[in-house]
Amino acid sequence: MYYGFDIGGSKIAFAVFDEALNERERSLHATPRQDYPAFLQWLSSLVLAADRRWQGVGSVGVGFPGILDGAGRLLAPNVPLIHGCELVGDLQHMLGRSVHADNDANCFLLSEYHQGAVAGAVLALGLTLGTGVGGGLIHQGRLVNSRRGGSAEFGHGGIPAGLLKGYPELPLFACGCGLQGCLETYVSGTGLSRLYAHCSGRALPGKAVIEAWRQGETAARRCVALYLDILAAGLGALLTQLDPDVVVLGGGLSEYAWLYQELDSRLPAWLMSGVRPAPVVAPLFGGSGGVRGAALLARHASLPFS
Ligand code: BGC
Ligand code: NA
Ligand code: ZN
Repeated sequence: MYYGFDIGGSKIAFAVFDEALNERERSLHATPRQDYPAFLQWLSSLVLAADRRWQGVGSVGVGFPGILDGAGRLLAPNVPLIHGCELVGDLQHMLGRSVHADNDANCFLLSEYHQGAVAGAVLALGLTLGTGVGGGLIHQGRLVNSRRGGSAEFGHGGIPAGLLKGYPELPLFACGCGLQGCLETYVSGTGLSRLYAHCSGRALPGKAVIEAWRQGETAARRCVALYLDILAAGLGALLTQLDPDVVVLGGGLSEYAWLYQELDSRLPAWLMSGVRPAPVVAPLFGGSGGVRGAALLARHASLPFS
């Protein structure tokens, strides 16, 4: 069996897959705010309980919401619980077995490459719009990555200055990573509520902003238009720099079908003239991408990539 963990800023998913990568069970949990030692215990208890239920010793894969610092520590400022901790090493130690791990957005993209929405692409780009903004790149079936797992951190690139032409009042928000004006501060779920607070002076969670927009509220309409332009501008810059054949969106906001139509119409304005935008597609495995990709990591460790 292959076990996948997807550790996110608000939720943690754990799923069990069989040899053919069919999902056999899954559980979803709220991410605890504190107590890292108890968290480690709890993660390993999930693994050991799954071993008992499935009568074996499963291979463990983990998608983590950050990058490694080069010395084994995790930099995940959006998830204070694990920020600065040696999550992979600690879990390995606790379980007495190898733990295969990579960035959560990389896991998501890996899953979409494996019989998913970007299967067979020469160069596929993934962008996850969740608590944070994650990125991934797969070239000819392999994730583009460094030793630190820090490649394709698209959420922490700045937004194109050309945006200010249309939105001279656009503020530079401080990002959890220590920089300012990162794409993540505008187009993540939390970014959407930040933009709404900027447009209306009121606080609403990301999904509630979409609901208000559906009902035609003026501030929500301004805010969603701004959100879409920033997303198109950010994605446009990535398309110009990397020229992927296809882009797959992930995270909570990727489930809105209208998002894809809006991007199709807005993207050309952010590309070199005459360039046609690559298709931007919805994920095939929806929210399950992260855990499935994590399980794939564990499987790759024992099988050749297919
Ligand atoms: C982190 C990425 C992560 C993304 C989604 C970002 O803030 O820097 O590493 O993939 O959030 O969790
Ligand atoms: Na990544
Ligand atoms: Zn940042």
